[in-house]
Amino acid sequence: MNLSPLHQSTFRFVVAAFGFAGAALAPVAQAAIPSEILAGYTAQAGSPAAPARGQQFFTTRHGREWSCSSCHGTVPTQDGKHASTGKSIGALAPAFNPQRFTDAAKTEKWFRRNCNDVAGRECTPAEKADVLSWLLTLKP
Ligand code: HEC
Repeated sequence: MNLSPLHQSTFRFVVAAFGFAGAALAPVAQAAIPSEILAGYTAQAGSPAAPARGQQFFTTRHGREWSCSSCHGTVPTQDGKHASTGKSIGALAPAFNPQRFTDAAKTEKWFRRNCNDVAGRECTPAEKADVLSWLLTLKP
């Protein structure tokens, strides 16, 4: 680029200002809403989510002792109970628990842990999208 000195300083100012705004906004960018997290999984999966498939995945066992329902309940609109510790777990369906699926890193962490417990492997993006799309159909 062949910029005049004035343009060069303007250019640097704009870069600095946007760089700063980007840094300031970064923590905000982590906060999400469930539909955004679903959109992320759907994009990764490359096909639309199927709520019925999500319900099926959630309520059946995958070769191990527990299903997702073992801790979260068959219809996770109420508090669940941890299958081994007995500790209460807040409702998983977002319409019944506004904290749910608002932090992509937290959602990922628990999907990883719970899918490993239930299926002995991580869930695929399509499975996560299916489960979340089903949870979003559960309304009061
Ligand atoms: C052994 C008990 C247990 C089983 C089985 C289980 N979960 Fe969980 N799950 C938890 C606990 C404990 C938490 C974290 C505590 C909390 O957030 O209330 C959690 C949290 C989650 C979250 C975090 C949601 C968010 O963003 O707040 C997701 C998603 C989730 N579970 C999905 C699943 C799926 C899918 C399965 C089946 C593959 C499953 N869980 C099976 C215990 C379990």
